[in-house]
Amino acid sequence: MLDRIAQLEEEALHEIKAAQDMEALKELRVRYLGKKGALTALLRRMGELDPEQRPAAGRKANNLRKKIEELLGCKEEELREAAAAARLEEERIDVTLPGAPFKLGRKHPLTLVLEEITAIFTGLGFQVARGPEIESEYYNFEALNLPADHPARDMQDSFYFTPQILLRTHTSPVQVRTMELTAPRLPVRIIAPGKVYRRDDDATHSPMFHQVEGLAVDRGVTFADLKGTLLLFAREMFGPEQRIRLRPSFFPFTEPSAEVDIACIICGGEGCRTCGHSGWLEILGCGMVHPRVLEVSGYDPEDVTGFAFGMGVERIAMLKYGIDDIRLLFSNDLRFLRQFR
Ligand code: PHE
Repeated sequence: MLDRIAQLEEEALHEIKAAQDMEALKELRVRYLGKKGALTALLRRMGELDPEQRPAAGRKANNLRKKIEELLGCKEEELREAAAAARLEEERIDVTLPGAPFKLGRKHPLTLVLEEITAIFTGLGFQVARGPEIESEYYNFEALNLPADHPARDMQDSFYFTPQILLRTHTSPVQVRTMELTAPRLPVRIIAPGKVYRRDDDATHSPMFHQVEGLAVDRGVTFADLKGTLLLFAREMFGPEQRIRLRPSFFPFTEPSAEVDIACIICGGEGCRTCGHSGWLEILGCGMVHPRVLEVSGYDPEDVTGFAFGMGVERIAMLKYGIDDIRLLFSNDLRFLRQFR
C-alpha cells in the first residue's frame, strides 16, 4: 500500500509538472482526486490493511491528497500567469512606431477669400463689424433710404418671416447699426462680412451668398478716397497691375453711386466669353453715404462725409479661382474643395 502511494505521488508530480494547459490540469484532477480517481480508489482499499498499518497509510494518503491539491493549485496559477503574459506580449504597444497620420481638413475657398479680403482692409485700418442675418425691415430698407414703396426694394426681393422681419438682402444694414453705436465718434472705418439672402437661384446666383460691406466716415472723406481704397484692394487681390473702372449707378443709400469693374482677369481687357466681350467684370457697388443715412444713424451730414461699398464674395472667389458655377461653392463636393489651400 505504501509503495503504491509513493508510486502515485511520483506519477502525479510528474504529470502535473508536464501539464500544458487548464484542460490537462482538470483532467489530472479528475484522474487523481475524482470519485473514480486513483487516490480515492486507494483510500477505499484502506479497509484491506491490518488495523495497525491503517493510521500510517491513511496519513500518507491524506498527505498525498493535500500535496496533489497544492500542486494542482500552483500549476493552475502558473498557467494563468503564463497565459496573461502571452496576451500582454501579443498586445504590446510599440511606442517607437510612427503615429497614424492625422487627417487635416482644409479651408473652404470662400473662407480663404474672406480671410484675404479681411486682411487687406484690416491692414488699411478697418475693423470687422457684424450684424444679424435675420434683420428688421427698418435696418434692411427704411434706414437706408428705401421707403416701403420704393421700387429699388424689388431688386432685392427677399425671404420674409413677417412684413417687418426678413433675411437681410445685403450687409448694408450693418452701416447703420455700426454708426448708431459709434456716433458721434470719428473716424468710423469698418468692414462687415457675412451671409445675405435673395430670391435668386441659377449658375451665377445663389439664394444665400456672402458680402463684405465697407464703411468709412470722417470729416473730409471724398470720392477720391473711395476710389483709391478700391484700387488698392483690387491690386492686392488680383495683382499689382490690376485696373478698375467706375460706372455711374444708383443706390438709394449712396449719392453719388457707382458700380466698380475690374479689367477681365481672363483676357486682361481684350474681351472674352467670361466678360461678355466687354473687357470688364463687375465686382461691387459703392458710393458716398447718403446724407439721410448719416443723419438717421446719428451723424451730422453737414459735418462729416463717408463712403461705402458692398462686394460679393462668391463673385470674387469665382474670378480669382476661375470657377464657372456658383453652386460648386455650396455642393460640398470634396473633389472640388480639395483643390484649394
Ligand atoms: N448693398 C448694395 C447691394 O447689395 C451694395 C452697396 C453697398 C452699394 C454699399 C453701395 C454702398 O447691392
